[in-house]
Amino acid sequence: MLSSMPLANVYAGGSDVIKIALIGCGDRGTGAAFQALATKQNLKLVAMADAFQDRLDKSYKLLTSKHADKVAVPEDKKFIGFEGYKKAIAEADVVLLATPPGFRPIHFEEAVKQNKHVFMEKPVATDSPGIRKVLAAAEEAKRKKLNVVVGLQRRYQESYRETIKRIKQGAIGDIVGGQVYWNSGGVWVRPRTPGQTEMEYQMRNWFYFNWLCGDHIVEQHVHNIDVANWVKGSYPIEAYGAGSRFLRTGKDHGEIYDNHSIEFLYEDGTVIFSQCRHFQGAQNRVDESFQGTKGKAYLSAKNTGKLWDSKGGLLFEHDGKGNPNPYQTEHDELFAAVAAGQFKFADAEYGAKSTLTGLMGRYASYSGKVIKWDEALNSEINLQPERYAWDAKPKILPGPDGYYPHAIPGKTVVV
Ligand SMILES: NC(=O)c1ccc[n+]([C@@H]2O[C@H](COP(=O)([O-])OP(=O)(O)OC[C@H]3O[C@@H](n4cnc5c(N)ncnc54)[C@H](O)[C@@H]3O)[C@@H](O)[C@H]2O)c1
Repeated sequence: MLSSMPLANVYAGGSDVIKIALIGCGDRGTGAAFQALATKQNLKLVAMADAFQDRLDKSYKLLTSKHADKVAVPEDKKFIGFEGYKKAIAEADVVLLATPPGFRPIHFEEAVKQNKHVFMEKPVATDSPGIRKVLAAAEEAKRKKLNVVVGLQRRYQESYRETIKRIKQGAIGDIVGGQVYWNSGGVWVRPRTPGQTEMEYQMRNWFYFNWLCGDHIVEQHVHNIDVANWVKGSYPIEAYGAGSRFLRTGKDHGEIYDNHSIEFLYEDGTVIFSQCRHFQGAQNRVDESFQGTKGKAYLSAKNTGKLWDSKGGLLFEHDGKGNPNPYQTEHDELFAAVAAGQFKFADAEYGAKSTLTGLMGRYASYSGKVIKWDEALNSEINLQPERYAWDAKPKILPGPDGYYPHAIPGKTVVV
C-alpha cells in the first residue's frame, strides 16, 4: 500500500455505492466494465461515453444482459461524440478509460483533474507530447492519492509476478540480455463507407493511424516491452533497429508498418531484442525470454514462467493451474482498494515509460537512426489534429492515389 487517507472529495471508501463511468465502449472497454461489475464491491455503472452511438448501444445491451442490476445509465448519461468524456467522468468515482490510446492523455488528465480513481488501458499515448501529459497527470494523481491501474495485465498475472519476483531475488543472477516478441497475424479493416468523413474513417480504422494507435509496436508490443522494463527495473537509454511495410501495404492499411525489429540498450549494457510483426500464416510468437549471469528465464501470457540455472537445470516452474484471469485481478485489486479507502496503485508512470519505450522503438524503425531516451521523451512532434470533430482534418491524409504516406527510414524526421 502506498498510503491511506485520500484527499477530500476523492471517493474514500465506506458503504456508499462506487459509481463507475466507461469512456470508450468498444471491445476492451465493455470487457473492462464486465470485469469491474464482477468484483465483490458494491458498485454501479452510471455513465457511458463513446464517439459512436452504435458502439455505445452495443456495449450497453451486452452489459445490461448480464448485469441489469448494476447498470444504471439513463439516456441522459449516455454521451456521444468527442466531448462526452468530461460529463461522463463527472458522474463517477472511478473511470474506465478504453478509447484508442491517442485520446488517453486528455482523458486521463481530465479524470485526475476531477479527482477520480482510474483504470486505463494500455498504451497511454501515441506521441511524446502525450507521454509528457500522462507523466504530469501521474504525478498529480499520486499527490491526490488517486488509485491508477493501467491495463498491462501481465503485472497482475500470477505467473509473471511469481517468476519475476524470483528473478529480482537473484535466482538467475543479473539480467544481461533478453528477447521479447509480439508476432501475430494482425487486425481488422473496416471498409470506407459512402458519405463518411476522413475523420470518421480514421476513427473506425484507428489501428492503422499513428495519432490514434501509435503503430502496433506501441499498441500491442508494449505488453512485452513492459515486461522487459519490469525485469530490468529500468528503461532503455537508446533504441536502434529496422521495420517496414512489407506485406500489408494497401490503401486500407493507413500508415503503420507491419514489422519492427529493435535493439533496446539499457544503461548497464544489457541489450533486449524486440520484434513485432503482423504476417498472416507465418509462425506466431508472443513471449519474453531473459538471460542472466547465472541462468535464464522464459515467460508467456499462457500462465508460463520458468527459470533454469546456467547448466539448463530447472530452478522454478510456475504452476498455472486455476490461476485467476489477470484482466479480472486488475479490477478485483483496484476496486478492493477503492472500497477500503486505500491508495495502493500508481501504475501511470511505468505505463507511460513503457509506452515511451515502444514509441522510441517506432522512432528508431521509422527513422533508421539511433534514438536516445531523452530525444524520444522531449520530442515536440504532436500527431494530434488541431481539433476533434467529425469535419476536422487529421494531419495524415491519403494522397491522390488513395494511399497514405508512411515513414521512410533515412528520410523521415521523428523527433
Ligand atoms: N490489455 C489488453 O490486453 C488489451 C486488449 C485489447 C485492447 N486493449 C486496448 O484497449 C483500447 C481499446 O481497444 P479496443 O480493442 O476496445 O478498440 P475498439 O475499437 O473496440 O474500442 C474503442 C472504442 O472507443 C471509442 N472511441 C474512440 N474515440 C473516442 C473518444 N474520443 N471518446 C469516446 N469514445 C471513443 C470507439 O468508438 C470504440 O467504441 C486500446 O488502447 C487497446 O490497446 C487492451
